Amino acid sequence: MKTRFAALLVCFLLAAVPAFAKSGTLLVAFGTSMESARPAIDGIEQSYTQRKDGPVLLAFTSDIIRNKLAREGKPVLSVNAAMHEMAKLGVTDLRIQSLHIAPAEEYSQLERMVVKNITKNPGTFKTVKVGYPLLVSEKDLDDVVKVVLASLPADRKPGDAVVLMGHGNNRGPGDLIMAAAAAAFHKADPHVWLATVEGANSFDNVLPQLKASGAKRVFLQPFMIVAGDHANNDLAGPDEDSWASRIKAAGMRPVPHLKGLGQLQGIRDIFLSHTDNAVIDLANTKKAD
Ligand code: CO
Repeated sequence: MKTRFAALLVCFLLAAVPAFAKSGTLLVAFGTSMESARPAIDGIEQSYTQRKDGPVLLAFTSDIIRNKLAREGKPVLSVNAAMHEMAKLGVTDLRIQSLHIAPAEEYSQLERMVVKNITKNPGTFKTVKVGYPLLVSEKDLDDVVKVVLASLPADRKPGDAVVLMGHGNNRGPGDLIMAAAAAAFHKADPHVWLATVEGANSFDNVLPQLKASGAKRVFLQPFMIVAGDHANNDLAGPDEDSWASRIKAAGMRPVPHLKGLGQLQGIRDIFLSHTDNAVIDLANTKKAD
């Protein structure tokens, strides 16, 4: 009799768990205000909604971009607002996926925002697991190099060079990851270079190597989630200090191929795997010790 009661109790408890646990996914990007750059982010969002695993919301960390979009009548949530929204939707197990390239300044800021929300609203979520950005392991880098090289224009001929534009930031750890990525690309294909618009991996170092390679055509592609402001202006824009203009002035033909990383399925798959493998539970930091 006692065992039967115990068995019943176990069944009841097992049945009760799904009723109380509800998961949702919050995707967090730096953001973009350019309409033409949105397919990269919207595409990632679609990859998550297709899984039909609870609500999926999008937040941008950049105040400037969110304010601009709000003025244009196209509001995007902040991380804090999106977490409140998830709570309203009854989500108890929150997954947060960083759509940043490296675990650097923007990613640290995201973690701080999440911790602040949890501290102010204790008990709202049972778990808050944050998925790593794109490049955190050797395997990520191998996968990213393969995906990006496969995405280059099909009409690229031997000898045509490729220049990828990353973001970079000399105040945080991002520059080291960009240097590792630049080395990995160049090793996989000696006609591919990666430089960054800010930080230490400057295009000034790449331009002489490009010239020396004898390339006549240079494909230009952003190494950022979106082909936004940096890709359209600093990389391929008409100003004389854009990389395209400098390549032209050096006697080569720049060919912009403005596809954001978020437009590539292989990149979306890496983010999805980082969400599934997230171990950092910011709602239970003590338990993780
Ligand atoms: Co920037």
